[in-house]
Amino acid sequence: MQTPQLETERLILRPLALSDAPAIQRHFDNWNIIRQLAALVPWPYPADGADTFVRSQLGKISAGEELHHWVLVLKGGDGEAIGNIHFRPCADGTKGNRSFWLAEPYWGRGLMTEATTAMNDFAFLTLGLDHFYVCNAATNEASRRVKQKTGAEFVGFIELAHHGGQSKSEKWIVRRETWLRDRV
Ligand SMILES: CC(C)(COP(=O)(O)OP(=O)(O)OC[C@H]1O[C@@H](n2cnc3c(N)ncnc32)[C@H](O)[C@@H]1OP(=O)(O)O)[C@@H](O)C(=O)NCCC(=O)NCCS
Repeated sequence: MQTPQLETERLILRPLALSDAPAIQRHFDNWNIIRQLAALVPWPYPADGADTFVRSQLGKISAGEELHHWVLVLKGGDGEAIGNIHFRPCADGTKGNRSFWLAEPYWGRGLMTEATTAMNDFAFLTLGLDHFYVCNAATNEASRRVKQKTGAEFVGFIELAHHGGQSKSEKWIVRRETWLRDRV
């Protein structure tokens, strides 16, 4: 299905567009973000990194791959993308079905928890999934905390190389039953 726009109290989650590439480039080219990510992401981040990435994502979506990719935009702001959620519901989940990041100036205000809540509702209420998996570097306290606040249950560790040097990732499952039971 096509990716719908989602809304939370403070955010619009808008489907990714090519015009988001400059804002993504500006915010994502930041070691404090990249060091938490799997070593598949190019680093140093190339000058056309976001443009290449956005084009590749949009290409996959138009080729029919089931991939939902939102940018996070503050309500009442200038419409600039300040973060991103990428959800691959049909991927096998070995390394997680979702990834997210937020521009550093906006950390610690509960924004990703809010966005993740909307995405979980989409996954379970709209797509009707039974469960999906999420992962984070074993030292990524903020990402772990977002998961703990949004219904994820710890499964175990997997081996995954991260830019920051961590070789272990925590793996979590998010279940429809738990989400619908505990959702506030
Ligand atoms: C992970 C990330 C998206 C979180 O976004 P955010 O909007 O700041 O998250 P929230 O504010 O909703 O929640 C963060 C929680 O982590 C906690 N936290 C943050 N840093 C922490 C730390 N070093 N130790 C313990 N807890 C920490 C916050 O206190 C908050 O929990 P609380 O609400 O119980 O106080 C953001 O930090 C980010 O983009 N990091 C870099 C990229 C990344 O790690 N992506 C995820 C890869 S798996």
